[in-house]
Amino acid sequence: MARINENYKKLQEGYLFPEIYKRTVAFQKNNPGVELIKLGIGDTTRPLTMAVVKHLHEVADEMADESTYRGYDAEQGIMELREALAKHYKKYGVNLKADEVFINDGAKPDLANLQSIFAGNSVVAVQDPVYPAYVDSTVISGKTTGYKDGKYEGIVYMDCTEENGFFPDLPKQNVDLIYLCSPNNPTGAVATHEQLKKFVDYAQEKKAVIIFDAAYSAFISDVGLPRSIYEVDGAKTCAIEVNSFSKLAGFTGVRLGWTVVPHELCAEGTKPGEVQALWDRRQTTMFNGASNIAQLAGIAVLSEEGQEEVREVIDYYMHNAKIIRDGLAEVGLEVSGGTNAPYIWAKTPNGLDSWEFFDKALNEAHVVVTPGAGFGQRGEGHFRLSAFGKRENIEKAVDNIKKNLKI
Ligand code: MLT
Repeated sequence: MARINENYKKLQEGYLFPEIYKRTVAFQKNNPGVELIKLGIGDTTRPLTMAVVKHLHEVADEMADESTYRGYDAEQGIMELREALAKHYKKYGVNLKADEVFINDGAKPDLANLQSIFAGNSVVAVQDPVYPAYVDSTVISGKTTGYKDGKYEGIVYMDCTEENGFFPDLPKQNVDLIYLCSPNNPTGAVATHEQLKKFVDYAQEKKAVIIFDAAYSAFISDVGLPRSIYEVDGAKTCAIEVNSFSKLAGFTGVRLGWTVVPHELCAEGTKPGEVQALWDRRQTTMFNGASNIAQLAGIAVLSEEGQEEVREVIDYYMHNAKIIRDGLAEVGLEVSGGTNAPYIWAKTPNGLDSWEFFDKALNEAHVVVTPGAGFGQRGEGHFRLSAFGKRENIEKAVDNIKKNLKI
């Protein structure tokens, strides 16, 4: 008799973005002809850059030729890409070995799957507000019991508020796995060296492991801010870093990312190398590697020409972020994020809850925002705007907000 994983029943509502999509479609059905501007999900809009496209064409030709066709590659990723990524980290003064870099098909699956190499009763800590995949995967893997007042029992929520600059204090109790995201989705806050160091010290002392989501690191322009947790002394012994080509190079549809599991990383009772080997074992069993076409395109992104091109695209999105920030501030909203991150985080006006504000922005300004409550209890009373839209849409959205949003 097959029985379902009952943990799925513990999940609250739908995943955030499908829920936004559902509401947006309903609005469009009831208001045909109204042009909606979607600044909800952080989906890229700039096309792939020339260096990548040129390489993709070459790869397509190679795949069409019997003598250069490639089938399966290594589950851990094509060595040339792993090496290119290890070299990429040298820019930040971080030395990695290529076999510490595991190629994936985007950050999200690994951010969830990494839990499977740690004990099932691990206590997980997350920032609140939080990218929902960390929480939902914790629930699905059976680490929570009930749900009360907007929180799952069994998860340790680390509050991120205006008061602490949206970076949490250390957890008061012992935790085993800690998700940190910087630049942060959704708040756009970026952790400093000192802030990360506190967590690294905590993790070393408690033998906890940090799962560091660096998917937006390319948006940091302030040279004083860390782009990798490995810029912090000691992090290799206690942190796994996950990153992605999605926002870095417009690969949201192409699908490519990477996870770094350093040899030095240890969990309770393991020797250096064992956790890395465990992840290797997990990947070779459950993953057949990212698309080789995507991986070869990834190598082009990391080339000198590719890096120059993606820099321009990132600058474009960051200019969008500035337009949004300035526009929201002009209408009197309290804004943060959007300077070293592509997300702008703002307080809802007049004490509206975040789904009320979602409906208001949809109806009055025809702009789709992401309601903060979708990111957890501490997201309530806030909303997020994404800077990944096309410039004309960003300008139109800000214009609509200025002219039509009744605050
Ligand atoms: C977001 O809007 O938070 C992201 O695009 C979602 C994701 O990367 O999965």
